[in-house]
Amino acid sequence: MSTKAQRGAGGPAAAEQPGSPQETVTMSFDGRPLTAAPGQSIGSALAAQGIVAWRSTRKGARPRGLFCGIGICFDCLLTVDGATNQRACLVEVCEGMQIEGSCTPDDGSRA
Ligand code: FES
Repeated sequence: MSTKAQRGAGGPAAAEQPGSPQETVTMSFDGRPLTAAPGQSIGSALAAQGIVAWRSTRKGARPRGLFCGIGICFDCLLTVDGATNQRACLVEVCEGMQIEGSCTPDDGSRA
């Protein structure tokens, strides 16, 4: 959830106007461009692009992504702008954000 300061002086109504530069947020996920709606969580933005797993378990390398969606299970951890162990279901997308998963490239868990 964003604060009034994060939304800017125009507030949420200004951000929701069609044609506004705030209509989409562009970021990167493992070096690939990713767009989302302002206010979306990283997890929902990834799921909307068909990316359902972005890390794997230490034991068995099983794929993990969103599970509870409310910040309890910690299955959705990823790295955001260099900060490790961020919960994708709780962190809101921001322009220019660099997101990294932790799956090994050949484990087959990424969409
Ligand atoms: S999906 Fe459970 S903590 Fe994010």
